[in-house]
Amino acid sequence: MTKSITIRRPDDWHLHLRDGDMLRAVLPYTAQHFARAIIMPNLVPPIVTHAQAQAYRDRIIAALPDGAEFTPLMTLYLTEDSDPADVAAAHASGLVKAVKLYPAGATTNSASGVANFDKVDAVLEKMAEIGLPLCTHGEVTDPNVDIFDREAVFIDRVLDPIRTRHPDLRVVMEHITTSDAVDYVQGAAQNLAATITTHHLVINRNHILAGGIKPHYYCLPVAKREEHRLALRKAATSGDARFFLGTDSAPHTDANKLLPCGCAGCFTAPNTLSILAEVFEQDDALERLEAFTSLNGPAYYRLPVNAATTTLTRTPAHYPAHVDTVEGPVTVFDPDMPLNWSVS
Ligand code: NCD
Ligand code: ZN
Repeated sequence: MTKSITIRRPDDWHLHLRDGDMLRAVLPYTAQHFARAIIMPNLVPPIVTHAQAQAYRDRIIAALPDGAEFTPLMTLYLTEDSDPADVAAAHASGLVKAVKLYPAGATTNSASGVANFDKVDAVLEKMAEIGLPLCTHGEVTDPNVDIFDREAVFIDRVLDPIRTRHPDLRVVMEHITTSDAVDYVQGAAQNLAATITTHHLVINRNHILAGGIKPHYYCLPVAKREEHRLALRKAATSGDARFFLGTDSAPHTDANKLLPCGCAGCFTAPNTLSILAEVFEQDDALERLEAFTSLNGPAYYRLPVNAATTTLTRTPAHYPAHVDTVEGPVTVFDPDMPLNWSVS
């Protein structure tokens, strides 16, 4: 007998779609499996203003395949010059669902991010007042802090002070990678949730570095020790409403990944749901997959859950190893395990 599960149609609460030809190449994979996605604003130049978010949304809609039912949920890139009134207007119009904080220099296209957190205080105050969530790239950029400690240090030095100063600010810690972050979210009384990526449930730092360097497993925040991966698995599969899927699917061409100084990012949009079904089955938690992919995110973002459903069938998954773009191939994340679940 074929085993299958039916869940509410999933959403992706952290996604990079890029622009132009790359956008057209990768968007169909997300639109096939997800009803909505929080769209990261780290283009060059970044999406800072209401008007830029509106124009970017229009380009995404224009790039959708015929018949696709997909809603991009737009975000603004927080800079030291962001205008609280513009941010509030973008939210009031219904267009913008979150503001993204990148510490300056933390990751891909984050040069316009925040160096002096005092300078964004007025925007954060406004966001707290209107209930607009702040999504954080939670890594400090201090060169003296070891890259494997940057998330834990971010919590102490940046996030906790912001949350103490703005207790009503609703925060999403993005792509958490440590048990420190899991503990911090679980210890908060309110206004804090976290997204977890597909790849951080599967790989630890050995996968990147042991037996040869694997650039396609390199992303930021970088995968940590096995004990941290296990803490993420436990949080994701627990059903706890504060944890939900944000794939951080981040396409880069192979030419840009396979360099002496290669780009950070794993491209997981084509096989994310198959990988997640495998992970949840391995952890005896298939009945909680829907909470992670389809229920907890809308609840935190105060949006309705999707009416449509998705059925996953226990049959080997087929997906491309690469997606072709005008600039060259983009390699799809290899979970290095058989995937026994397919989206019907
Ligand atoms: C992202 C990208 O490529 O835009 N890369 C990544 O490794 N996750 C940026 C980010 O989310 O940090
Ligand atoms: Zn990202």
